[in-house]
Amino acid sequence: MSSKRFAHQLLHWYQTQGRKNLPWQKNRLPYNIWVSEIMLQQTQVVTVIDYYQRFMARFPDVNSLAAATTDEVMHLWAGLGYYTRARNLHRCAQKVVTEHQGEFPVHSLEAMQNLPGIGPSTAAAICAFSTGQRAVILDGNVKRVVARYFAIEGWYGKAQVSKQLWQAADQLTPNEQLPEYTQAIMDLGATLCTRSKPQCEICPVASGCAAKAQNLTEQLPTPRPK
Ligand code: ADE
Repeated sequence: MSSKRFAHQLLHWYQTQGRKNLPWQKNRLPYNIWVSEIMLQQTQVVTVIDYYQRFMARFPDVNSLAAATTDEVMHLWAGLGYYTRARNLHRCAQKVVTEHQGEFPVHSLEAMQNLPGIGPSTAAAICAFSTGQRAVILDGNVKRVVARYFAIEGWYGKAQVSKQLWQAADQLTPNEQLPEYTQAIMDLGATLCTRSKPQCEICPVASGCAAKAQNLTEQLPTPRPK
């Protein structure tokens, strides 16, 4: 199938164009990756960098975060928005300390998803980045790439469409180089396969993209029905 080709082309592109020097890529400890992924859920990389560095300087590990006051955590989060993330971050740290002996359960996607603030895609990203295990991600940027690559129509809020997107994302995910692949597909969605004016001329996977072949790029992914 086209899957192997997709991962191959994407990884090749990532070697020269991907982001490889982000602060949370330096040492791939689950704690560091988790903090970065929660910050990146609704905030762009450029904004996250400073917040991440300040946060890690004050809370270098899960124990220090769990022991902090909510006020202090909120103070370091001020300006990032979506404050439920900060409250869940604090609760999650406390749960990791009390229920998982201070270690994120990164060898179980299911256990990860049972932690506050960690949904299926964030759990998969943390697992893939910190352990290299095969885990399928489907965040907002990746949904767009997958919906276009396979020309999957319909709003992803519908269970049947969401299921199709997860299956397609699974099909594209390789068995090796998971940290690189995961960062690469996120980067592709964030930089070239953008919602408006995607840069198909320089896209590494354009040759296999069904939306491009059918001239459907502008229509996909299908927006929420009015
Ligand atoms: N969005 C969510 N996770 C991300 C990551 N690791 N890099 C870039 N954007 C992201």
